[in-house]
Amino acid sequence: MCGIIAYVGDRKCREIIINGLKRLEYRGYDSAGIAVLMKKNSKKNEKQAASENYSINIAKQAGKIAELEKLINDTHIDGCVGIGHTRWATHGAPTQINAHPHMDCKSKIAVVHNGIIENYAELKDELISKGHKFISETDTEVIPHMLEEFNNGDLLIAMQKLLKRIKGSGAIVALNSDTPEEIVAARISSPLVIGIGKDGNFLASDMPAVLEHTRNFMIVNDFETIRIKKGSIEIFDIDGKKITREPFKVNWSITSAEKSGYEDFMLKEIFEQPFGVKETMRGRLSEGILDFKEIDLTSEQIINLEKIHIIACGTSSHAALLGKQLIEKWARIPVEIEVSSEYRYKDPIVEKNCLFIAITQSGETIDTLAAIREAKSKGARIVAITNVVGSTVARESDAVIYTHAGPEIGVCATKTFTAQIIVMYLIAVYLASKTGRLKEENIQEILGELEIIPNKIQSILNNAEQIKKVADQLYKYRTFLFLGRLFGLPIALEGALKLKEISYIHAEGYAAGEMKHGPIALTDTNTTVVGIVPKDSVYEKMLSNIEEVKSRNATIFSVATEGDTQISKYSNYVFSVPKTIEELYGILTIIPLQLLSYYIAKNLGRNVDQPRNLAKSVTVE
Ligand code: F6R
Repeated sequence: MCGIIAYVGDRKCREIIINGLKRLEYRGYDSAGIAVLMKKNSKKNEKQAASENYSINIAKQAGKIAELEKLINDTHIDGCVGIGHTRWATHGAPTQINAHPHMDCKSKIAVVHNGIIENYAELKDELISKGHKFISETDTEVIPHMLEEFNNGDLLIAMQKLLKRIKGSGAIVALNSDTPEEIVAARISSPLVIGIGKDGNFLASDMPAVLEHTRNFMIVNDFETIRIKKGSIEIFDIDGKKITREPFKVNWSITSAEKSGYEDFMLKEIFEQPFGVKETMRGRLSEGILDFKEIDLTSEQIINLEKIHIIACGTSSHAALLGKQLIEKWARIPVEIEVSSEYRYKDPIVEKNCLFIAITQSGETIDTLAAIREAKSKGARIVAITNVVGSTVARESDAVIYTHAGPEIGVCATKTFTAQIIVMYLIAVYLASKTGRLKEENIQEILGELEIIPNKIQSILNNAEQIKKVADQLYKYRTFLFLGRLFGLPIALEGALKLKEISYIHAEGYAAGEMKHGPIALTDTNTTVVGIVPKDSVYEKMLSNIEEVKSRNATIFSVATEGDTQISKYSNYVFSVPKTIEELYGILTIIPLQLLSYYIAKNLGRNVDQPRNLAKSVTVE
């Protein structure tokens, strides 16, 4: 939620910041702003100290980055030191006044912030009583005023004092016109990375923001403060003690953060799934041999596992549900799904011999982070599954399994979901093989099918046009029910989530057998039912459920298996996926549902990459 970028170096930074903000726009897109240090235009300044020659120039605007860009196109705002922000409003409406950066009373300090200051009301009262003037409704505005209070010439020290007073979360980046050669920053909970460039250094909420300038990064940890200059990077703890940190290099390409000819990131990311799935298997599964070093548990420890808990939110929780079904079926270990946002409030039980798996594509979801902290405090061992190297969840977990889907820019999760599912398949088989609870011939059959799954996904994508035609008919409906059973259930839930988040159509995912217990009352001529009906062990049951809603005048779209000759009798529209084993239909049947949501949303003129009210990573509670 909210994106931050900063640059200090030899180059003019306006374009660097605007381009970076565009890449961060998925984190928030209701308003944006930029602040740049610029030399004052006065001759008498020559004799003044260099510091007095600079002022902070700010431009901010409600709306998307394009609005900010329009605003500054005709201005002279540019310089070699600057900060930018794209906002997802938490305190105060998305207006120009509430947009970041925010300033102190003397307009010498400018701040951008991603997070929430929980004790801002108390701090604001204190600052007002000292004579500070506030102009916005934001919590963030207390930060520049507090820095102004604490600043005795070194903004970094002021930042360290600030961290001791504020409660909440945040990545904070500040400029000071009195020290124009540096940018100062701090982090509590919200993500922040340092990008190390040849001609300057960067700060950003996320690596793709600066990937076109560098692939060398350092992570910032909680309660650390940073000073970056053109040729130096310094990291300190909250008490000012210097910290040394090794940089790391990412192998993400610049094109992976661009649309590469696709109309939207979402569509590009849907089409990248064969690659993301293959990359996620690479090094773990090859020619029937499964190697999962990351789990780092002995066979004996695995056999003795009493329970596995999987913690996740949203789409990741649907991967968790599929994972539960797979692990329970193949490895016979009981699995409990924990909704991250609920977990820490229920005084959770952490068994002696248990394993926690946290699934989070961003690795920054605050609820998942809080849940793993709670579980850890009770002695749990955490294995994280995430797509972002060096993310907070990755660093706070005992072991990490990276999905290699590449950066996902579209707000709704697509390729990271299928990469998560692949990891769940691999983990389930791995645990089953270590416990000896699945026959070797079954293991070989599953692994063999997994190795050819990317080709099957590709063959579905090759028929995307068929789904578009269905979407062209269905986009007028206002109620969608997604029905599935067994391994089709997580896919029904995920299909409904995809549709509602990008098209704003009301959609629900249900276990098909639950329809009779209430939801079937919704069914009439205005309802579309999407059935996940592959040829599996519950196929006949699904047919009956589809029949029940068809006879109540719903329009039926079935996702079925190639060669199924019965399904068209029950359905108005059918899309067929290639044959596979029953547990693997999930990863195939989700692809047409992602495409369906995409094309319906496009028909309705929605912004699929940046749906209203949503942000890519949810870093506030
Ligand atoms: C839906 C979506 C969200 C996320 C959820 C968890 O398309 O993207 O539901 O899945 O916010 O995010 P992560 O996986 O980053 O923890």
